[in-house]
Amino acid sequence: MLNLNVFVLGCLMLTYSCNGSMEEIVGELQRELQQLKMKTAHYDIEMQALRISSANEIQTLKTSIASCENELQTHKIASADEIQALSNSAISSANEIEALKTASTKEIMSLKAQISSLKTERLNAAESSQALNRRFVLGTNSFAEKPAFSVSLDNHATGLGNHQTIIFDNIFANDLGGYSDMTGVFTAPLNGTYFFTASVMSQSGKHLESEICLNGASLVYMYSFDTYYEQGTNSVILVLKTGDRVWVRHTNTPGSTAYGGHWSTFSGFML
Ligand SMILES: *[C@@H]1O[C@H](CO)[C@@H](O)[C@H](O)[C@H]1NC(C)=O
Repeated sequence: MLNLNVFVLGCLMLTYSCNGSMEEIVGELQRELQQLKMKTAHYDIEMQALRISSANEIQTLKTSIASCENELQTHKIASADEIQALSNSAISSANEIEALKTASTKEIMSLKAQISSLKTERLNAAESSQALNRRFVLGTNSFAEKPAFSVSLDNHATGLGNHQTIIFDNIFANDLGGYSDMTGVFTAPLNGTYFFTASVMSQSGKHLESEICLNGASLVYMYSFDTYYEQGTNSVILVLKTGDRVWVRHTNTPGSTAYGGHWSTFSGFML
């Protein structure tokens, strides 16, 4: 800029040295100088404006960088927190898995113990059922001794009236004591299904009719002719409840004899 001005000044001086007086040249030069000063001042102002603008821009950039740094810092913190949270969650999961493992192991142990105990129980039950002649009773859903009896007539039962009970006086077996040799009646000690059979022999020359009855109601009949000793036999299966009564009784023709000496029998048992 200055070089250009000097150049212009030189040109002017050359021009005036050829064409004008010295005063004119000086006047011209002074105006020129004045213009140059104004231009310089103008440039200074522009420079100043540029400086300010640059400073502002730098400030803006700095602020922006600071904001970026802050954001970065925030992200760092957030990431660190997230990592911490994930790590905590992983630890908690591991703990949970460990707890589940422990619980499962305990449960398995407990189940094994239960199985073992059940095996022992079953074995014991089987053994004791054998030892006590017990069987599984459907009605009670447990092992229990089942009612069973087998009786016979030792002494003849003579002069029997209609519906008179034949009391079998000899007892072979009477599990659970359902049969009474005082009354001749079997009383069911348990609910269940029972099988009964009776065989009654007549004395020669006296025909004999008898029956198995339940709570006083006739069920099945036995008949023996009178020409010779003869056994009338019958059986019945009954669903009984505790307290039901079953017995053998003579019917019709008063004065009949049921033959003793174990020729006449009555048996029953729960199925
Ligand atoms: C026996 O049977 C009767 C009638 O069905 C019932 O009420 C009773 O509960 C039974 N008893 C047992 C011990 O099962």
